Amino acid sequence: MITVTKLHPLFMAEIGGVDLTQPVSASDYAAIDDAFNTHAVLVFRGQPVTEAQQVAFSKHFGPLIPTTNYHRKGEMQRLRAELADVSNIDHENNMLPVDSERRQHSLGNQLWHTDASFKHVPARCSLLAAHEVPPTGGETEFADMRAAFDALPQARKDEIEDLVVEHSIYRSRERMGFTGYNEATRAELPPVQQVLVRTHPGSGRKTLYLAAHASHVLGWPLEKGQALIDELIAHATQPQFTYAHHWQVGDVVMWDNRCTMHRARPYEDLKYRRDMRRSTVSDEINTVEARRGPLADAV
Ligand code: OGA
Ligand code: MN
Repeated sequence: MITVTKLHPLFMAEIGGVDLTQPVSASDYAAIDDAFNTHAVLVFRGQPVTEAQQVAFSKHFGPLIPTTNYHRKGEMQRLRAELADVSNIDHENNMLPVDSERRQHSLGNQLWHTDASFKHVPARCSLLAAHEVPPTGGETEFADMRAAFDALPQARKDEIEDLVVEHSIYRSRERMGFTGYNEATRAELPPVQQVLVRTHPGSGRKTLYLAAHASHVLGWPLEKGQALIDELIAHATQPQFTYAHHWQVGDVVMWDNRCTMHRARPYEDLKYRRDMRRSTVSDEINTVEARRGPLADAV
């Protein structure tokens, strides 16, 4: 029997009564889907899933997006391609050194974001499994973007409702001070367009759709769009809309990338190991195309 315990007044719930190392029944999946649509971030505790078990459970929610390996050319992978390696550990089980490229780029996770918004078809949800955690730090914070949208003044809602935003992985890297990517590298992940306000399919509620990857507003002067994006991210990440998850080994946390943002909190990553593995489920369609609707071409 699935149990659902709310962890925050607005979103976040802990799910009990299920064993993710075993096949999950259709009725349990239905209960998890329901809780996911309502609470947006689900915490499962005491789930020591193998890579295969995590992949099997995740695939129920849709096809998986393979690892974004743009920063790992020639580097040996520790995990199967369906899992993103969010650890500070290399394929020989050693901790990443200070100058490791993967270590430096993973610092980007400390900026508020939603996963894969820089891809044409972004991520629907992500599932992060904790295998080793540091004694302090390394929490993951979540922000409720439906509640953040609801709390905007009506005039702001009207102003932003139809806007389209360009997202690029290089925008979030630039925010961290990483620039100087050459054209060939940039061409591998070209900028994409996403709507700024979307209707969350699972709940019918409107939500902000934003990330550190968001670069500017289409049709607006660059600075004005960047200022709006920064202002909305600041609004949405006020304490009343956020929750920090403190990890234990065996936790699996599943979040809805369509209506939440998240960020990693710092920890002493040269001193302590943190072994986290993420499966990422694809959304169905680009958000701008979804807004246009299937009949758009015919009209
Ligand atoms: C991620 C991510 C945050 C963390 O895996 O997508 O942003 O706390 N992780 O590791
Ligand atoms: Mn992320």
